[in-house]
Amino acid sequence: MKRFFILLVLLLLTPSVLMGSVAASTCIDCHSTVTPEIVEDFKSGAMGDNVDCSACHGTTHSSITTVDKAKMPTHETCGACHATQDAQYMDGKHSLAWTAMSAMPTTADQPKELIEGQKGCGGCHKIGAKDETGWDDYHYGITGCDSCHTRHSFSEAEARRPEACMTCHQGFDHAQWEMYSTSKHGSIYLTEGDDWDWGAPISNAKASYTAPTCQMCHMNNGDHDVITSWGFLGVRVEEPNEEWADDRVTVLKSYGVLDADGNPTARFDLIGPAKLARTTIAEWNAPREEMIAVCGDCHSEKFARISLEEGDQMLREADRIYAESVEIVAALHRDGILPEPDYIDELPSYPYPDVLRFYDQSHTIEEDLWVMWMKYRMRCFQSAFHANADQEQWYGWGPLKETAVAIKSEDRSLRAEAELAEAVVAEGMTGTAETKANTAESPGFGAVFSFTSILALFVLLRRKE
Ligand code: HEC
Ligand code: HEC
Ligand code: HEC
Ligand code: HEC
Ligand code: HEC
Ligand code: HEC
Ligand code: HEC
Ligand code: HEC
Repeated sequence: MKRFFILLVLLLLTPSVLMGSVAASTCIDCHSTVTPEIVEDFKSGAMGDNVDCSACHGTTHSSITTVDKAKMPTHETCGACHATQDAQYMDGKHSLAWTAMSAMPTTADQPKELIEGQKGCGGCHKIGAKDETGWDDYHYGITGCDSCHTRHSFSEAEARRPEACMTCHQGFDHAQWEMYSTSKHGSIYLTEGDDWDWGAPISNAKASYTAPTCQMCHMNNGDHDVITSWGFLGVRVEEPNEEWADDRVTVLKSYGVLDADGNPTARFDLIGPAKLARTTIAEWNAPREEMIAVCGDCHSEKFARISLEEGDQMLREADRIYAESVEIVAALHRDGILPEPDYIDELPSYPYPDVLRFYDQSHTIEEDLWVMWMKYRMRCFQSAFHANADQEQWYGWGPLKETAVAIKSEDRSLRAEAELAEAVVAEGMTGTAETKANTAESPGFGAVFSFTSILALFVLLRRKE
């Protein structure tokens, strides 16, 4: 009814629509009534004066009867006028976000609302590059570029503030916002940031910033090519430290990148193209040295280098404990103590579990391992790099060790149960004739005998531990 009314008013107000003509201002004229806030936002921005709605939405919709034909821009639409930023974005990791999400083993099994509907994974990973294929399926969220300077003001000043990153870089597995905002850097931003000049480019503003922002460290000089040395997965392919290299092999098995014998799987081939990890030390060093140069604006080089090396060391320590837990779970599968999962054909490294399946695991011990990896291991190194002692100690390292203990005791219980079950089967076999004879005399005796022998066995097994 409301629609019909709007339609009627518009028909009366805009005769040009009846004639089907599309002038540059037609969109704005009509939309000043239909979506006034959008027009206002747009006019407040730098593009408001000289760019028309049709530059991004095309001219296929120009009347109320053709609303379904309005196009949504891709990053390439923006790239037509902003080639530099588009090329940088394509070189960095944000452009790969949609691909990386789609490549996860159980993404297709999640409700569509969480992916194309953007209520979960898709809501953050929409920052990745997409083309128009399949656009009808997800309809919105196609652009990517509007993740930091949001439509329709597309403000640079908004994008320069660390809050622009907060919607995605928060929470369970990548709490960079929490880490930053409660670090010394963040506390200075929160107390003094309102006086900083957000209209100036990041490079110029350096002189007036008294503490770094996400953008200053990760988009230095306005470079849209975001990438770090360790990345999210916290691995590199070349490893000079031999002991760490051994643990890394186990970590990569739990990612399904190396099979149980340590040979590359099909997933290994994704590492390069999806930039999942830096393959050589030289490739790993490049973003690290850039970062040290940024710290160098305010700290001594030695201070910065030592601080980041401590971050590397925390990852190394976390890997030691995580790898040990991975091997425990793999051994439970290898020894047939955990039942074969019904998705065994999808596991590239069986008997190793696949943590990239996230929460879609088959047993609580695997769920524990996944949380240990995705929440605690991440925090161990992410908080070290973002100078947050609380997150490091009490949300990373502490719970990591706690989970390692839980996994060990689960392992002991599962093995004890298995031995017990085996013993009962054996007992059942040898005990059959005897039990039959007993039953003839006194019906209750057989049951009592089995019960006490199970109890005795259980006590025995516990003592053995
Ligand atoms: C005669 C009025 C009129 C004109 C002219 C007009 N639009 Fe619209 N447009 C509408 C109405 C009505 C809607 C639907 C609004 C709603 O659903 O509340 C709409 C919706 C849209 C949408 C959203 C579509 C979606 O899928 O959500 C976009 C984008 C859009 N218009 C862009 C344009 C552009 C670009 C032009 C100029 C080429 C234009 N419009 C011209 C009336 C108009
Ligand atoms: C610089 C590019 C650009 C220009 C110019 C532009 N838009 Fe948009 N518009 C976008 C982007 C990006 C989206 C979000 C697309 C998505 O979600 O896939 C969008 C979405 C929309 C939507 C649907 C979503 C919503 O929030 O309702 C409407 C309506 C719309 N634009 C109207 C307009 C109007 C009217 C104008 C002119 C005043 C305009 N746009 C100019 C980029 C632009
Ligand atoms: C038709 C060409 C054109 C298209 C398409 C276009 N822009 Fe722009 N954009 C401009 C012009 C012109 C300016 C203002 C002049 C300048 O400062 O370069 C501008 C300025 C900007 C700014 C700086 C805003 C500020 O606060 O100073 C941002 C950010 C921006 N555009 C983002 C986008 C995004 C994102 C898209 C795609 C959704 C897009 N543009 C599509 C032409 C375009
Ligand atoms: C709250 C926003 C958000 C949600 C929801 C989200 N992600 Fe992410 N995801 C991110 C961010 C941010 C990163 C990068 C974090 C980092 O590097 O520390 C990331 C990283 C990843 C990576 C690693 C990419 C790489 O190259 O290292 C994968 C894979 C991934 N996400 C898949 C998913 C899947 C699948 C889901 C849903 C089950 C999901 N994400 C849900 C924000 C999100
Ligand atoms: C003082 C500089 C600095 C600031 C401020 C900063 N970071 Fe970082 N960030 C780093 C360093 C250093 C690394 C680790 C780089 C490496 O792998 O060697 C890192 C790593 C990352 C990573 C990769 C995963 C990880 O956490 O190790 C993401 C994603 C990230 N930062 C996002 C953010 C966001 C979002 C903000 C703001 C809320 C932010 N950073 C603030 C310096 C900074
Ligand atoms: C991760 C956040 C983020 C994303 C995603 C992003 N931008 Fe930006 N953009 C920024 C920041 C921050 C600045 C301010 C840079 C500075 O101060 O030097 C900026 C500035 C710009 C400017 C103004 C440059 C100038 O010199 O005035 C344009 C144009 C622009 N972005 C276009 C785009 C386009 C096109 C895309 C998609 C291909 C995009 N941005 C995606 C954060 C982002
Ligand atoms: C709409 C959600 C979203 C926003 C907003 C966002 N990011 Fe991201 N970011 C992601 C996702 C998703 C990834 C993982 C991409 C991948 O590799 O698949 C990512 C990856 C990164 C990485 C690369 C980490 C690595 O693997 O090396 C850095 C650094 C980063 N973001 C910094 C920022 C900064 C700084 C901002 C704000 C200026 C920002 N992001 C805003 C979603 C977002
Ligand atoms: C724009 C200036 C600026 C940049 C760039 C910067 N910092 Fe800081 N940093 C500060 C200030 C100011 C403090 C607070 C000093 C204090 O605690 O007295 C601080 C504090 C710290 C602290 C807390 C320890 C301490 O001395 O209180 C660490 C750790 C740290 N920075 C590491 C880094 C690293 C690593 C980088 C680069 C990745 C970096 N910072 C980049 C300004 C900066």
